[in-house]
Amino acid sequence: EKGGYEHFMLKEIFEQPDVMHDVMRGRVRTEEGRVVLGGIEDYLDRLKQARRIVICACGTSWHAGLIGEYLIEDFARIPVEVDYASEFRYRNPIIGPDDVVIVISQSGETADTLAALRAAKEKGAMVMGICNVVGSTIARETMCGIYTHAGPEVGVASTKAFTAQVIVLYMLALALSKGRTISHDEMRLSLKELSKVPEHAAKILELDSQIQQIADDYKDARNFLYLGRGYNFPVALEGALKLKEISYIHAEGYPAAEMKHGPIALIDEDMPVVVIATRDSSYQKILSNIEEVRSRKGRVIAIASEGDTEVARLAEHVIYIPQASAQIMPLLTVIPLQLLSYHIATLRGCNVDRPRNLAKSVTVE
Ligand code: M6R
Repeated sequence: EKGGYEHFMLKEIFEQPDVMHDVMRGRVRTEEGRVVLGGIEDYLDRLKQARRIVICACGTSWHAGLIGEYLIEDFARIPVEVDYASEFRYRNPIIGPDDVVIVISQSGETADTLAALRAAKEKGAMVMGICNVVGSTIARETMCGIYTHAGPEVGVASTKAFTAQVIVLYMLALALSKGRTISHDEMRLSLKELSKVPEHAAKILELDSQIQQIADDYKDARNFLYLGRGYNFPVALEGALKLKEISYIHAEGYPAAEMKHGPIALIDEDMPVVVIATRDSSYQKILSNIEEVRSRKGRVIAIASEGDTEVARLAEHVIYIPQASAQIMPLLTVIPLQLLSYHIATLRGCNVDRPRNLAKSVTVE
C-alpha cells in the first residue's frame, strides 16, 4: 500500500514528479504554445472577461490560492483576491455576475469551502472548482472546473495535492493570458519552464538524506520561523503549516520584509529560521533579511539556487535546488520544506499520517 515507504506522507512526497506529469498530461502543449483545459473550455471567454477573480479555500489549498493570485495577476492581469472560505461565507462579500469565484479543495468536501461556493452562486457569480477527488460535492456543484489528478492523498498533511493545485493554477493563468497579455514566444517559454518541473522535483528529492540530517539538528526546537518573498511567501506559510500539523512544533510563516515589523523581536539562538532565498528579483533583499537574523544569533536554514555562493556565507545550512523562473519556484521550494517537516516529525516519534486532532477532510464548521 505504502509502496515500500514508511508512511503515506513520504510516499506522496516522492510521488510528486509523477503526479506533476499526470497533471500536465494532454493539457500542456508546449510546441503549439497552448494549454488545453477541457473542463473549462466552454467558460474560458467568460473567465477572461471577469471583472475580478476571488479564490476561496482553506489550509494548504488556501496557500495554493495565494500563489494563484500572483500567477493570474502576473500573467493574465486580471485582479484576484484570495479569501479564507470561512471568512468569505460570513462577511457579506461584494460579489456579482461579473465576478468569478474559484474554489480550491483537495477533498472537494470541506464544509466552509462548499458553503463559500454556494454563497457565491447565490449572488450570481460564476463558480469554478479546482478539486482532486473526482465527483466530490464541490466538483459537482461548480459550473466548471479543473481536476488536479494527483491520485488519492492519504496523509493528512497535504503534499502532492498542493503541487498539483499550483500546476493547475499556472496552466489556468496561461490559458487566461492567451491572446491577451502574453506573446506566443512567452507562452512557449513559460510552458517549457513548466514541463521541466518534474525533472527538477526528482533532483530535489535526492536531497532527502541531507534534509534528514538537518532535521536531526533541529528536532528539539520549540519554535520555527519561515520567511519568503514574492512567490515564495505562500511557500513560507505552507512550510510552517506542515511543521505545525505533524510535529506539533510552533511555527509561523511570514513575508520576509514583515519581519522587522514584529517577529524580529523573537529571534535568538533558539529560534531557527527557514529562509527561502532563491535567485529572483528580491534575492538581494532576502540576503539582507538573512543578515538581520544572523546578527541576532538566529540559526538559518536556507533554500538557495544551485551555484549560489552568497547564501552559504550567511546561513548555517543551505539546501540547493535547481534554478527556475520565479513563477515556477513554489513548485520546487516547497519540496525541501515538506521533507524537513516529515523528518522532524518522525524523529520526534510523531504519527505523521494521522496527526492528533486533525482529520483529512474537515466536513464540519
Ligand atoms: O480538502 P481541502 O483541500 O479542502 O482541505 C483544506 C484543508 O483542510 C487542508 O489543506 C489542511 O489544511 C491540510 N491538513 C493541510 O496539510
